[in-house]
Amino acid sequence: MNENKQLYYKIITYGCQMNEHDAEILAGQLQELGYAPTDEEVAADLVILVTCAVREHAEQRVYGKIGELYRLKQANPNLILAVGGCMSQQSEVAKKMRRRFPYLDIIFGTHNLAEFPDLLRAAQVSQETVLELWEEAGAIKEALPRVRQDGLKAWTTIMYGCNNFCTYCIVPYVRGRERSRRPENILAEIENLVAQGYQEVTLLGQNVNSYGKDLDREYDFADLLRAVNETGIQRIRFMTSHPKDISPRLIEAMADCSHVMEHLHLPVQAGSNRILRAMNRRYTRERYLELVQEIRAAIPDICLTTDVIVGFPGETDEDFADTLSLMEIVRYDAAFTFAYSPRGGTPAARMLDQVPEVVSKERLQRLNALQTRISLERNQQLVGTEQEILVEGPSKNDPGKLTGRTRGNKLVHFVGEPQLAGQLVHVRITAAQTWNLFGELI
Ligand code: SAH
Ligand code: SF4
Ligand code: F3S
Repeated sequence: MNENKQLYYKIITYGCQMNEHDAEILAGQLQELGYAPTDEEVAADLVILVTCAVREHAEQRVYGKIGELYRLKQANPNLILAVGGCMSQQSEVAKKMRRRFPYLDIIFGTHNLAEFPDLLRAAQVSQETVLELWEEAGAIKEALPRVRQDGLKAWTTIMYGCNNFCTYCIVPYVRGRERSRRPENILAEIENLVAQGYQEVTLLGQNVNSYGKDLDREYDFADLLRAVNETGIQRIRFMTSHPKDISPRLIEAMADCSHVMEHLHLPVQAGSNRILRAMNRRYTRERYLELVQEIRAAIPDICLTTDVIVGFPGETDEDFADTLSLMEIVRYDAAFTFAYSPRGGTPAARMLDQVPEVVSKERLQRLNALQTRISLERNQQLVGTEQEILVEGPSKNDPGKLTGRTRGNKLVHFVGEPQLAGQLVHVRITAAQTWNLFGELI
């Protein structure tokens, strides 16, 4: 092999922003090793899949992709194929992948990301799959090299892992216990983003409201939001918030901080107390609705979004009707809706009264129809209002127009000069569809 040949990598990411974040760190490490990115799988010397295990559908897509990559491997025996992320972190799944796809060069978990360069060196000399998983997360590693995907909006992970063990969810098993980054490291990262011209940051964690509980001093998410508000970044978002951990201090901080956007993603998962208990969510329907009222009282024009699961084991027609009625009462701006998918090793997967798939599918359709109507109505209410928009660039569907997002995170299309990209502008909303708003510059 020619020592001086430029090597190329391609990373394919599934799942949530935690994986996007991990992919940025992998990219940073590879670029330090001299690799360059490519969009073309056929041109790559290294392909990495960063996988998601949250639902079966996500896993099926990954298996399909690994199968497809076999042809590339046959055409180019020097190609290195690596599979990381949340599927690989489960040792039974990792071993199954090694058996089923012996041509994989590297299988690695979520906790040993920083070791990837070592695994790559090992794979270059090994005939067999290099499989390396750490059971536990080590100490948080700061200052890993990284390559961000966007120049305007950035993700900053403020904590890793989850302690909640909702009974359906695989995340605590594949991402470990909650670990908070130190505030000074987070703030330094955001100040650096500001210096590079970033306008927006999204603070990430599976449950940001429990940020700081593991720090050696009294410092919580409300303190962090107030501090980030002073960094000079224009727009601050965060996700995800667990309803059981939203404190009055946090609502106050959101209302006080002018750079914190009027948007809250507050997954409810179900509207029936019986199901919420079986899910181990640790709030009731009544408490959730009260919380929504408290938030709306403090921040009247807040946009609320949520996640909902239908067909959780034991969910009856009555339970499902409770979910529909909760959606009618709250009137979310948008909802991510899922049919329950049993995950090996979680308590819910062992529950006896699993709901047949046809029933879940039918409920999902009804839920989506309801939410589509509400989302449209919520958007129609914005017609005539003035909105602050962060301009992202030319619209993908209509290149004559620009797109940007409101403070509530809604997509707006409007006519404007391309050089407005990256700036905050004001528009008046002139028309609304379910997932899009249209406006004109003021
Ligand atoms: N930490 C976040 C996100 C977790 S995963 C939170 O707590 O909200 C994102 C969403 O996937 C969850 O909110 C849930 O609605 C959904 N989800 C998780 N496990 C699932 C499963 N086994 N079946 C179907 N949906 C699931
Ligand atoms: Fe999963 Fe629940 Fe943790 Fe969210 S809070 S990641 S749904 S266990
Ligand atoms: Fe999927 Fe892992 Fe995120 S399971 S949703 S990629 S934490």
